[in-house]
Amino acid sequence: MALLHSRRLLAAPRLAAAASRASSWWSHVEMGPPDPILGVTEAYKRDTNSKKMNLGVGAYRDDNGKPYVLNCVRKAEAMIASKKMDKEYLPIGGLADFTRASAELALGESSEAFKSGRYVTVQGISGTGSLRIGANFLQRFFKSSRDVYLPKPSWGNHTPIFRDAGMQLQAYRYYDPKTCSLDFSGAMDDISKIPEKSIILLHACAHNPTGVDPRQEQWKELAAMVKKRNLLVYFDMAYQGFASGDINRDAWAVRYFIEQGINIVLSQSFAKNMGLYGERAGAFTVICSDADEAKRVESQLKILIRPMYSNPPVNGARIASMILNTPDLRKEWLTEVKGMADRIISMRTQLVSNLKKEGSSHNWQHITDQIGMFCFTGLKPEQVERLIKEFSVYMTKDGRISVAGVTSGNVGYLAHAIHQVTK
Ligand SMILES: Cc1ncc(COP(=O)(O)O)c(C=O)c1O
Repeated sequence: MALLHSRRLLAAPRLAAAASRASSWWSHVEMGPPDPILGVTEAYKRDTNSKKMNLGVGAYRDDNGKPYVLNCVRKAEAMIASKKMDKEYLPIGGLADFTRASAELALGESSEAFKSGRYVTVQGISGTGSLRIGANFLQRFFKSSRDVYLPKPSWGNHTPIFRDAGMQLQAYRYYDPKTCSLDFSGAMDDISKIPEKSIILLHACAHNPTGVDPRQEQWKELAAMVKKRNLLVYFDMAYQGFASGDINRDAWAVRYFIEQGINIVLSQSFAKNMGLYGERAGAFTVICSDADEAKRVESQLKILIRPMYSNPPVNGARIASMILNTPDLRKEWLTEVKGMADRIISMRTQLVSNLKKEGSSHNWQHITDQIGMFCFTGLKPEQVERLIKEFSVYMTKDGRISVAGVTSGNVGYLAHAIHQVTK
């Protein structure tokens, strides 16, 4: 009897749990897969090997492998703190000094579109949020097509950003795995067949995940082709200054397309080039045919943003604006961006020379040819698996490494590990 009683006691909570599951609103919700990049970080954190390396995440690290806060950012923060500013809401479109400076940074101060005011820039929640504003704007106002053509491959978040905004994703050839470089003829061939008045997304510089950018002559041919096909060009510029170390060089394609009369839309991020990752400072710009059209577009962007998040966060925009609009800070920033880009470029060179020292006979030239934070190594999924299991070197399965995670202290170990799994 006592046994029966205790069994009944045990069964009761189980029954209650099952009943509440059956009556739950969310019983149909299935477990979703973990984010591929954040999943790499989780596995890395659990690893106890002292030589472990996390080359998955796309955030800059200094030569000691530590997160890096730029000096100009620290100074801007101090200046902002000393002003004891209020915490009032920003306008829906964001901080005006910031949006003007973002547009100027992207378009160039001598740009006709910038000077004539035939553009509108709104502040967004870093690059991702700015892309999402853009995607929603296209969904509402780009009447001729739902189709957005992405390079193959593209940043993993592009697809859900546009899909969740109600757009359809298509692709054009971009990367050639055989040569680990740009498949330019494939890209041109595919783009020439994109139906007129569709949308094409281009990475302005430092293509993620491949690190492969077109050369200036190739950009010119791409511009001529998109003009011929009458495509709407969406530039994603998440790495201005971070690719070559020169903000003007990295914005070359954006500026060239506009000069050719191509009225682009553009998303910018200040996560990488100012190291403002968690501050979420970004911008979305539409180049219009005249200032009046820009005013109308601006009014609709505000209508779109208001029910999404009402108005953007103030702190990151204040920091970025302070840096861009204060000549001394801006100068210091340009030096610091170059410093970050140069460190990455030097890690690429050192990785290749260490691979040679290890005795690798493969051609690793693509590592130094590619640009920006990421390198598509060409490593196969099974080689990546061995790197993780045997060497605690973590990266995404596609063989992409964040070169920002490589330091003079660990580049030798990385080269050794790569050589061991590729020989
Ligand atoms: C191509 C590309 N676009 C946009 C972003 C957006 O980044 P965030 O939202 O952190 O500014 C990233 C970040 O990795 C990126 O690589």
